Amino acid sequence: MANNEWWKGAVIYQIYPRSFQDSNADGIGDLQGIIQRLDYIKSLGVDAVWISPFFKSPMKDFGYDISDYRDIDPMFGTLDDFDTLISEAHNRDIKIIIDQVLSHTSNQHPWFVESREDKTNDKADWYVWADANPDGSPPNNWLSIFGGVAWQWEPRRCQYYLHNFLTEQPDLNFHHPEVRKAVLDNVEFWLKKGVDGFRLDAINFCFHDKQLRDNPAKPIELRQGRGFSEDNPYAFQYHYYNNTQPENLLFMEEIRALLDRYPGTVSLGEISSEDSLQTMAEYTADGNKLHMGYSFELLTNDYSAKYIRETVSRLESVMTEGWPCWAFANHDVERVASRWSIDGKVNDTQVKMLTALLGSLRGSVCMYQGEELGLGEAAVAFEELQDPYGITFWPNFKGRDGCRTPLPWTKAKTNAGFSESKPWLPVSEAHALRAVDEQAVDSNSTLSYYQAFLQWRNAQPALKTGDIEFIDTPEPVLAFYRKTQTQTLLCAFNLAATQQSATLPEVALRQCELKHLSGTASANVLTLGAFGCYFAEVLS
Ligand code: BGC
Repeated sequence: MANNEWWKGAVIYQIYPRSFQDSNADGIGDLQGIIQRLDYIKSLGVDAVWISPFFKSPMKDFGYDISDYRDIDPMFGTLDDFDTLISEAHNRDIKIIIDQVLSHTSNQHPWFVESREDKTNDKADWYVWADANPDGSPPNNWLSIFGGVAWQWEPRRCQYYLHNFLTEQPDLNFHHPEVRKAVLDNVEFWLKKGVDGFRLDAINFCFHDKQLRDNPAKPIELRQGRGFSEDNPYAFQYHYYNNTQPENLLFMEEIRALLDRYPGTVSLGEISSEDSLQTMAEYTADGNKLHMGYSFELLTNDYSAKYIRETVSRLESVMTEGWPCWAFANHDVERVASRWSIDGKVNDTQVKMLTALLGSLRGSVCMYQGEELGLGEAAVAFEELQDPYGITFWPNFKGRDGCRTPLPWTKAKTNAGFSESKPWLPVSEAHALRAVDEQAVDSNSTLSYYQAFLQWRNAQPALKTGDIEFIDTPEPVLAFYRKTQTQTLLCAFNLAATQQSATLPEVALRQCELKHLSGTASANVLTLGAFGCYFAEVLS
């Protein structure tokens, strides 16, 4: 019988298709490349893949600006390739989650091309249009995440349009019922093709405040980058009005009603609001909205047991029916092996500990391509930058190219086996040394650990669906129980490079048989080596 809740506790491997595997020597990864590597993906022990956008796009934001929601961009392949990808993945029992970018389109999408023409066409209200102030300035103070004002002047209409991201990514007007219907029809196109779910990009950005009220200023001490650069004026405001509007909750219900017609499909909303954890809870409440929420809370520079404990605990305290999805890395932030490094260098033991820690948190998890190889952030020279965000904010913020460089497959091959031609972003030399072929034959590698850990995790009911209960341990030790009716597991992690000990509650433990456990528990004293982990069954 089909398990419609396969996604609870699942490990979702994120593929950034441009940089995964090139099959036709144009320097850009593609769908055939993913198909060729499905056996590798299977060997990792993940349940699903989430593939970043591969739809027709002018690629101003590398696929997050879509000009045709129902077609594949030729650089990635064809609809037939996609059908093959689904059936080949399903043959291997791998689920396919695709990205849906609903809040905005490309400015080359036919809807926008029509909408911008005049104020009377059929699509005139499909985007967020507003008159200038009497002095010609934009209608309000809203800002774009990628820097500068969120309004672009359109001479044909003598009006401004809203773009929360790039100028080339105009925001759709979700207050218009026809827009919601058209968007959901596009989503259904992919459900009919047999996808298992969606990662919903910037889903709390669909609606804007109809009155276009100004966002209030944020005090200097509270301005911090959450997935955006610290020197970005976007941090200077509370984003009360340009996103996360109450109407969005009803739209989440509309999405869920559609998915419920395709049993076993799942929605994972990317949420970035003033209080992302609260919004994750609201957007997944009552069993009639999204299944899972995903936020940037563990994608920041905050690396401490306290921060992780408080973040997870806070979500646990507000989330009801919903299911969390955690990630330490993705295509928008510095690679975690660098971001959370203690001394600026990649440390394999820390990488392994982070795999185990992420895989032990309650909820589902997204693991980004290359995390299994312990890839650090790649250095990309200014001349080679592709990301417009990085180009704008260079040199303080170098953008997102350093986490998007191609995956190294074979150390000795040209471009580490990613492509026979010059790749769209350079393959890092440091990455080539950590290529899949090298790591696959080394039982001590981060890749071997990842595979062994996920295999073991798959057999632990408590890690898949158990509750989480934190144990009060001092920094830098993070410890918790995961509990189902049949199993209680103690999970403990040392986030530092020096040996640590902590006091545990007095319960009988049986240490789990798992690679690279560096801890011991004797009586109620837990000792953990540098970046060590300890897992034990609690015996009742
Ligand atoms: C995606 C980014 C993208 C943005 C605009 C995000 O949250 O993850 O890569 O630039 O949405 O679509």
